[in-house]
Amino acid sequence: MIEPFAAVEVIAAKRDKHELTDPQIDWVIDAYTRGVVADEQMSALAMAILLNGMNSREISRWTTAMINTGERMNWSALDRKTADKHSTGGVGDKITLPLAPLVAACGGAVPQLSGRGLGHTGGTLDKMESIPGWRASLSNEEMLQVLKDTGAVICAAGAGLAPADKKLYALRDVTATVEAIPLIASSIMSKKIAEGTSALVLDVKTGSGAFMSDPKKASELARTMVQLGVDAGLKMRALVTAMDVPLGLTAGNALEVRESVEVLAGGGPADVVELTILLAREMIDAAGIIGKDPADALKDGSAMDHWRRMVAAQGGDPDAALPVAREQHIVKATNSGIITTMDAMKVGVSAWRLGAGRSKQGEKVQAGAGIEMHAKPGDYIEAGAPLFTLHTDEAPRFERALEILEGAVSIVENGTVNRLPLILERIEG
Ligand code: URA
Repeated sequence: MIEPFAAVEVIAAKRDKHELTDPQIDWVIDAYTRGVVADEQMSALAMAILLNGMNSREISRWTTAMINTGERMNWSALDRKTADKHSTGGVGDKITLPLAPLVAACGGAVPQLSGRGLGHTGGTLDKMESIPGWRASLSNEEMLQVLKDTGAVICAAGAGLAPADKKLYALRDVTATVEAIPLIASSIMSKKIAEGTSALVLDVKTGSGAFMSDPKKASELARTMVQLGVDAGLKMRALVTAMDVPLGLTAGNALEVRESVEVLAGGGPADVVELTILLAREMIDAAGIIGKDPADALKDGSAMDHWRRMVAAQGGDPDAALPVAREQHIVKATNSGIITTMDAMKVGVSAWRLGAGRSKQGEKVQAGAGIEMHAKPGDYIEAGAPLFTLHTDEAPRFERALEILEGAVSIVENGTVNRLPLILERIEG
């Protein structure tokens, strides 16, 4: 086959701050997936994009080209409207777990194709896998059946969805090119558009524990993704939300499942409940679903019923005891006062060092590892009272987990809390 372009010409065009043409973009993505464009050439192009950017036409075309390298799911066999949520990831962000069955209880169908965690933020599949028997990998037919039977499915995205992104994301991870907004937006949206949902709500995190710590950049990312969704015919919403402080009172796989079940039982921490309900309302509204209000579905037990059916449909036992780590260590408050800050990144890295996360793809995670928070910013705490309980199966991990927690929390007598509001911005597309 005679290739219509040479990779060096495309790289040079972006290096010299030119716009890439539609045929150049289509070709470079397809040729990279076929192995004709080499990793070192794609690395150079990704760096040129990081430094010189892409305009909205280029980003939109890049996204479509990535979608076209794989399959597109189709949910037209369902008699319910589809709605999904994507979070850019944060510490203690377990929202998908109560949210998917909650939206199902309100009349929606939620096809949640999720990933595993890498680095300090946990992955939804790792959390769900702490439920004894639960299985993440489903065929497309099984996925459709679970959706028909229970209204929600949380499972691993198969290799067939946007394979160009799989290859490119792994390359960006090792070439310091993850942080480019055009590449992040096209990576996330290519998978979500290929997933076939008709409505999508984005939870774009900002603050120390998010990978877009600057709220302005988070807003730009949210707007870029909303536009890509609109261009593809999706009903879109985005919330830019706080990740300066961990979400809820737990970070770690089984610990977060336990907290999610508390929310489904009508309890749970106020911030998790508030964000779950807000995102559920956005999903229902975006999809045009006329049904129950999410706050009622949490109160009347219907969201819990959907959770139990969803877990059981994938081999999980919703009544089984969740794994508990072999070792615990309590961190106590050193002085009395108001907790004014709690650094999400430090708590996330600490949970990761305890074994809740992995440092390279394929590594096993500990189901019981992580951190319980006994108080949060705004709470008064007495000197000597428990602040955190650290959980791990391997006691030698405590030392490094404690090291990163040094300075993570400020306790000030008569102090005032300095933190981001839970919702910073709402964007509708
Ligand atoms: N998540 C993705 O799927 N892609 C990115 O580029 C960043 C986060």
